[in-house]
Amino acid sequence: MRIVERRLEKGSLLRITGPAMLMVGTGKISVLGAVYGPGSRLVLHKCRSYAVKALEGSEIRVTLGDEGSLEEPRPGEEVIDQWLEVAERVVSDGGRVILIGGVESGKTSLTALIANVALSQGRKVAVVDGDVGQADVGPPAFVSMGFVDKPVVWLRDLSADAMRFIGTVAPGPAAGSIVVSVRELVEEAERRGADTVVVDTDGWISGMGALVYKLALIRSLQPARVVLVGPGLEPLANILSRTNMEVYTVGSPARRRERSREERRILRAEGYKRYLEGGETVRINALDSPVLGSCVFSGTPLPSEEVEAISAILGVKVLRASRLSGTLTVAAESRPGREALSKLRDAYPGDHVYVVTPSDAKGLLVAVTDRSLRELGPGLVVSIDYESGVILVRTRYSESAEGIIVGRVKLDENYVEMGRITGCVI
Ligand SMILES: Nc1ncnc2c1ncn2[C@@H]1O[C@H](COP(=O)(O)OP(=O)(O)O)[C@@H](O)[C@H]1O
Ligand SMILES: [Mg+2]
Repeated sequence: MRIVERRLEKGSLLRITGPAMLMVGTGKISVLGAVYGPGSRLVLHKCRSYAVKALEGSEIRVTLGDEGSLEEPRPGEEVIDQWLEVAERVVSDGGRVILIGGVESGKTSLTALIANVALSQGRKVAVVDGDVGQADVGPPAFVSMGFVDKPVVWLRDLSADAMRFIGTVAPGPAAGSIVVSVRELVEEAERRGADTVVVDTDGWISGMGALVYKLALIRSLQPARVVLVGPGLEPLANILSRTNMEVYTVGSPARRRERSREERRILRAEGYKRYLEGGETVRINALDSPVLGSCVFSGTPLPSEEVEAISAILGVKVLRASRLSGTLTVAAESRPGREALSKLRDAYPGDHVYVVTPSDAKGLLVAVTDRSLRELGPGLVVSIDYESGVILVRTRYSESAEGIIVGRVKLDENYVEMGRITGCVI
């Protein structure tokens, strides 16, 4: 740990990388458009870096953790003044603002900055976090909306006022559902009185799929302003320049704390934990409650003679088996051997055959819903009894829990993802 004291001239900049704690002695500083005066303290997370700007001659004291650092940016290197200028213009008469940019381009930081500037002008501000991978407002695999009632330096300082479940942490396979959900959340924020809604997005920008997806998002939202952050956006910028949309282009921070794949996974684990820790166990019966995304419980049950025949082929007890269109899903007490499984596939040529076991479901991420299938929040499957249909789910949103939507993410006991899921698990 190191303590550094600095005197900053009015208008000067300092780059601080966390973990760090910043204390203002005298004067006034701004971090992402949030203003801090004498006596303020600010904690900077280890995975983030910031430009600190002195609004007056100021004295600050920075406590740096092991990997923390503090440096003066070279002239022309910092983008913060450009960001502040664009933010002032973008919020001038409220409405919807969407940010698009690559991974680590600065979207989330600029979203916070725009929200802070709008807030300082007395606006009622909401942020919609459309990034299912590096979700900050709500948990990963969800898109979420949070009102901003005090300045924030990281969107994780907000909490979700509404969420929609996407079920994966990669946007590609769920692009359509993200477009619909983000739009619903923007409309909900406006219904609840927001006059400025800032939409943060994921960093998937390269290739035709990404272009189509980002344009679908923009077309669906019809935002007053689009902010393009950092490099790699020429194809999108070209198309937007032929429309009557107001488009702003800003640079990415030249030097920033970038996060490795593993760090992103850990950041996601922290994000899941924020919304999943604690809670209580609720009982959902898949035979009479809405359970979405379960192959076993969505299909037509097979007659008992057929179930017995499958049991005989697999050499393990079959608890339930069903068929939905060309998919046969068998819930077995334990995992059958490879050979037995291929015998079953031979017996059902032309079908997709899945064999699932109760232990596959443990730690599966779900969204808990009310009777009208509205997401209340996340939950984790504790156990599943295929014979009775009872699924136990641990969640903080137990109060009006009536159903679940099954996700494609499984977590271990530390909320770390255990690989991605393909096919049927329940
Ligand atoms: N002005 C700045 N100077 C230095 N680092 C910055 C600045 N603005 C943002 N960063 C850092 O850059 C990294 C990427 O920013 P982030 O807003 O999370 O990008 P994105 O949401 O596009 O992935 C983060 O570590 C963030 O703290
Ligand atoms: Mg981000």
